Amino acid sequence: MYTHLQLRDSDRQPVTLGTLARMKAHGEKIASLTCYDASFAVLLDAADVDVVLVGDSLGMVIQGRDTTVPVTMDQMVYHSAAVARGLHRPFLIADLPFMSYPTKERALENAVRLMQEGGAKMVKLESGGGQVEIVEFLTSHDIAVCAHLGLRPQSVHKTGGFRVQGREDDAAARMLEDAKRLEAAGADVVLLECIPSALGKTITDALAVPVIGIGAGPDTDGQILVLYDILDITTGRKPRFVHNFMAGAGDNLEAVKRYVAAVRTRTYPGPEHCF
Ligand code: KIV
Repeated sequence: MYTHLQLRDSDRQPVTLGTLARMKAHGEKIASLTCYDASFAVLLDAADVDVVLVGDSLGMVIQGRDTTVPVTMDQMVYHSAAVARGLHRPFLIADLPFMSYPTKERALENAVRLMQEGGAKMVKLESGGGQVEIVEFLTSHDIAVCAHLGLRPQSVHKTGGFRVQGREDDAAARMLEDAKRLEAAGADVVLLECIPSALGKTITDALAVPVIGIGAGPDTDGQILVLYDILDITTGRKPRFVHNFMAGAGDNLEAVKRYVAAVRTRTYPGPEHCF
């Protein structure tokens, strides 16, 4: 039961925002995955994943819900703390869940919980132009922020489903403008979900901060996928950008190492994973 702890290697330097900025500057791809518990956190660390996200996708992946909307702050803090206990090198980001940042003050209070109780180094919030002030407020309190643009699952009941975003010229222009405004407000990382590859490249080239994509094409500074998707644990229909790294791998650790290598060598994502 405790043998996974032997996979730790405390000699390696923890990834920081400086590491991620250097990786962008040198064109080294950032390999990221979601995680929800300590055992998998140890495994992701051993596989040399750079960034780990405790995503509110845990509502679907762990709790079996249809959307991320019911996920609560207490649940995010619980899972983030478990993941933090298993990590040494990767940079830990945790999601602010649905309606945990309706005002600047609530956003600050909940970001502090994710950091103090959950061990997160950065908080992520699903953002548009409407969240610029909140990002500004958090960063003015020295909280590292990841702004999430493109498909925003917390808004799925308003936007009408899990669909590729930014296909139309005006929507793409708006997303680029929002990304620039969020960066100017202090966002340290931008995450792009489910957008055309060309728009992923345009936004990545326009921003100085690292951009991590999921279904956003090969040109973002890094990639992220849901852990259970790459290990082929997820059942049912999977999004186009998902790749099964368990196929041909002897165990979970090898599968995650294959994912990390594929991101770093730019063999993932291929054209078949892109929009
Ligand atoms: O919650 C999550 O897992 C995410 C990923 C889709 C990036 O935000």
